[in-house]
Amino acid sequence: MSGAGSRWSRAPPCRSVAGPAPGYLRTWWTGRTGDHVHHVLRYRVRRSDGRRYGRAVVDIEQINPRNLAALRAWWEVGQAATAYRPGTPWPAWETSRVALPADNPERGVTLIGAIDGREMVGAAILIRPLEENLHTATAIVYVRPDRTREGIGRRLAEELEVVAAGDGRTTLQSEAYLPPDGSGGASEAFASAMSYAVASRESIKELALEDYATRRPDLDVPVPEGYRVVTFDTVCPEEHLESYGRLLGMLLSEVPLGDLDLEDSAWTPERVRAAESRLTGIGRHMHTALAIAPDGSVAGVSDVRIDESDPVHGQVGITIVDPAHRGRRLGLVLKLATHDLAVATYPSLVSVDTSNAEVNTWMNAVNEALGYRTIETLLELQKRL
Ligand SMILES: CC(C)(COP(=O)(O)OP(=O)(O)OC[C@H]1O[C@@H](n2cnc3c(N)ncnc32)[C@H](O)[C@@H]1OP(=O)(O)O)[C@@H](O)C(=O)NCCC(=O)NCCS
Repeated sequence: MSGAGSRWSRAPPCRSVAGPAPGYLRTWWTGRTGDHVHHVLRYRVRRSDGRRYGRAVVDIEQINPRNLAALRAWWEVGQAATAYRPGTPWPAWETSRVALPADNPERGVTLIGAIDGREMVGAAILIRPLEENLHTATAIVYVRPDRTREGIGRRLAEELEVVAAGDGRTTLQSEAYLPPDGSGGASEAFASAMSYAVASRESIKELALEDYATRRPDLDVPVPEGYRVVTFDTVCPEEHLESYGRLLGMLLSEVPLGDLDLEDSAWTPERVRAAESRLTGIGRHMHTALAIAPDGSVAGVSDVRIDESDPVHGQVGITIVDPAHRGRRLGLVLKLATHDLAVATYPSLVSVDTSNAEVNTWMNAVNEALGYRTIETLLELQKRL
């Protein structure tokens, strides 16, 4: 146990009350019942009550999203762990309460909690695409700020890997967040300790709608001749459905992905309709604008998503203009249309956020014209299992 000894000697002298110092970590029991994973993680800690070593036990468990009390505890950990970040990094409780337990034809979601006694101190989520990119999953870990650097994050990340590998996933993707100056922070250090590589750098941007209102009169961009703009809330008009699906299928090959190992998808009308009905079911409104080309095909799409449960914050979903129709300012036209629609529908809206690759100069220029400001840098991470 020489490793354990050296870790103890590196630990700070003591921490207040019950907060254990970093200590030796080992799993002493692992079991599975059905799809329920249960690990008990026991680690010795240095305590402040005069005893040289104490013991703490953290259970790593799957959380049933339909168990409201457990889901709320899980959500509170995520909220506390992201409270230091600018903008709106964590969904409102009502949004999570409705969305997480709902069936999703696009993604399988696994929630994991780290539980100390009766308290949840860590939370993690694994999101598995179900339609394409079946080799990938997204893994995110949150640890309550008063319980960081105890090894809880590591144990959760390892558990997500077990679940992902059990489902045949070979590439894990994750995220780390940096202040806009681009340096420092636990999430980057944690990512590197967990052997994730940076696959792409993105900027997270926020638009204050009062800034938008000030700029809007000067952004009178005409719809290019022969084109027209069609807007809708979530459900695409039948006449455009097939062409809209074709454009959605191009997204992953057209968006700068850096080294992210992702492949294109096929959006059949049935798939689009299934995704729409899920959104309608959870009260998420996708305010969408389509650019219709002179030949009637869908040349571009953009959307702003707003949850009924949180009509104060919106999020840009996707924006894509077919390469055959670029260079006509359709991107700006579409974004103006969706933002106008969102503001008209939700006068309570305060801000909208978006993220895009730092190398995506065209999209950055459009966002800047609208008034978006960079509030954070997002590192897209990847790890091969
Ligand atoms: C990032 C986060 C999950 C880390 O949780 P944690 O329980 O503190 O992580 P661990 O104690 O298991 O740390 C594992 C390793 O990560 C690295 N690490 C974690 N936090 C660090 C920090 N603040 N500074 C330097 N290294 C750090 C260390 O190498 C550490 O190993 P060590 O303690 O043996 O040196 C936690 O800080 C958090 O919830 N942050 C907000 C949410 C977030 O950014 N999540 C990341 C997206 S996946």
